[in-house]
Amino acid sequence: MTSQTSAVVPQSADRSAAATQREEWWRGAVIYQVYPRSFADSDGDGIGDLPGIRERLPYLRRLGVDAVWLSPFYASPQADAGYDVADYRRVDPVFGTLDDARELLDEAHGLGLRVIVDLVPNHCSDQHEWFQQALREGPGSPMRERFHFRPGQGDDGELPPNDWQSVFGGSAWDRVTEPDGTPGEWYLHLFAPQQPDFDWQHETVREEFRSVLRFWLDLGVDGFRIDVAHGMVKAPGLPDVGGRTEVQLLDNRELPFFDQDGVHEIYHDWRAILDSYPGERIGVAEAWTSTVARSARYLRPGELHQAFNFSYLTTDWDADALRTVITDSLEAMAAVGAPATWVLSNHDVVRHSTRLSGGDAAVAVPRARAATLLMLGLPGSVYVYQGEELGLPEVTELPAGVRQDPAFFRGDGQSGLRDGCRVPLPWSGERAPYGFGPAGDGPSWLPQPESWAKLSVAAQTGDPDSTLEFYRSALAVRRAEPALGAGESVTWLDAPAGVLAFRRDADGGSVVCAVNVGGTPAVLPSYGRLLLASGPLAVDPDEAEVTLPADTGAWWAV
Ligand code: GLC
Repeated sequence: MTSQTSAVVPQSADRSAAATQREEWWRGAVIYQVYPRSFADSDGDGIGDLPGIRERLPYLRRLGVDAVWLSPFYASPQADAGYDVADYRRVDPVFGTLDDARELLDEAHGLGLRVIVDLVPNHCSDQHEWFQQALREGPGSPMRERFHFRPGQGDDGELPPNDWQSVFGGSAWDRVTEPDGTPGEWYLHLFAPQQPDFDWQHETVREEFRSVLRFWLDLGVDGFRIDVAHGMVKAPGLPDVGGRTEVQLLDNRELPFFDQDGVHEIYHDWRAILDSYPGERIGVAEAWTSTVARSARYLRPGELHQAFNFSYLTTDWDADALRTVITDSLEAMAAVGAPATWVLSNHDVVRHSTRLSGGDAAVAVPRARAATLLMLGLPGSVYVYQGEELGLPEVTELPAGVRQDPAFFRGDGQSGLRDGCRVPLPWSGERAPYGFGPAGDGPSWLPQPESWAKLSVAAQTGDPDSTLEFYRSALAVRRAEPALGAGESVTWLDAPAGVLAFRRDADGGSVVCAVNVGGTPAVLPSYGRLLLASGPLAVDPDEAEVTLPADTGAWWAV
């Protein structure tokens, strides 16, 4: 037996202009999520910013992604890390200026990278001028109609209008003090109290967001990731949920404030706006739904382009469960002519190296790499969250004093663990902040673990065994092989228990992807020319068979 990790990287890993211009670029795109606070800090205040991102665009291009999604950088008091927007047309000074945004877009486009920005239409910040005016003008004022203000229940209106719970814990309603100093109406906030929900039945709200879309499209963005896309329309009369009402992030139960049919009208409207601009601008739904088929409804002809596949993200490392969710996803998306999407990590969930390994450090990186090869082998579009290409683990031991996730402070049984995946990236050097900021020993808004020196971009670059070089190879192979990337289906192959194996066919050739999700090595036929493996493989000398260790995946050209 010989041991092989073969990374036969095609020489032409570079994207050609034609490739990025190809029609429907988003069907097979790899989209990299930048969480601006934690990506790169250009001015040394400990918080990442737009100039920091700009400086690192060549890194993203070399990584081999097609597009970047930027989490919010708009004017915001940062009660929920920028998902509380006070002004949708301004850049928060902590992140830079509108000129910085413009330059970032231009430079990204010059490098062949598309840029998608976050849009937060379900709610704004309590510092948004409309909400401030609504507070000042009191009950019955037209400004209050743009939000969900209601009188309370009980003799003195001292009880919330219904039993809805906030995703961050506690009631979804807060009571205001009226201008005359008396306790008054309640307003709805599905998230933090600093995030009042808009009332999307109000035409002015709809018109405002059409204008916000145009503002950023005019600036040159390639699309929008739509925050809480399933939440804007509430069931008429705001009926009680009844029974167990606690709501969690990614909650997929049927609830009177999520996934109501009325939201689809909004996306028809927005699609017409997106299509009125040149160059295929896209809309991506962050929609928590009960099934992938419900997610597909956001992608029917005339609606949005993609939706995050949270069913996939929340599936355990289990071969049968993965095969089921993959099959269901491909079927549901094919039924509406939309690409499937695949995602393992984002700024709201425990990083997948930690999550999939159940905290067992010995298997964390091998399993995460195998999961990456599976994800990148599937037909459709893929989302990569910053730092997963470095194999970063979740930071589980942040002291309470440094935490900022509002869910952490709302308590009520909410996990509030989102800070652990938001720790700033390590770029270089031996000491924190590892090149995150300009100064050798400058601040970072969350502390980085000491063990991250060896995980920095500089430490991994050029090391063929590193996770970073593995991602670079995988993305290059995916780009070079016509059978990988966009597509609608896979052909499942017979494989030993615990192994997922499928073939993908294209005019230019076929690729087999096999991943050992089980706990023991599996013997497989050698399918063809090994393109890439996520870890060492034992290859039979006559090359008829290959042993795929546990938590390992591979691609072969056939
Ligand atoms: C989305 C975002 C999350 C945010 C919430 C409220 O789920 O991904 O970070 O807290 O919306 O805007």
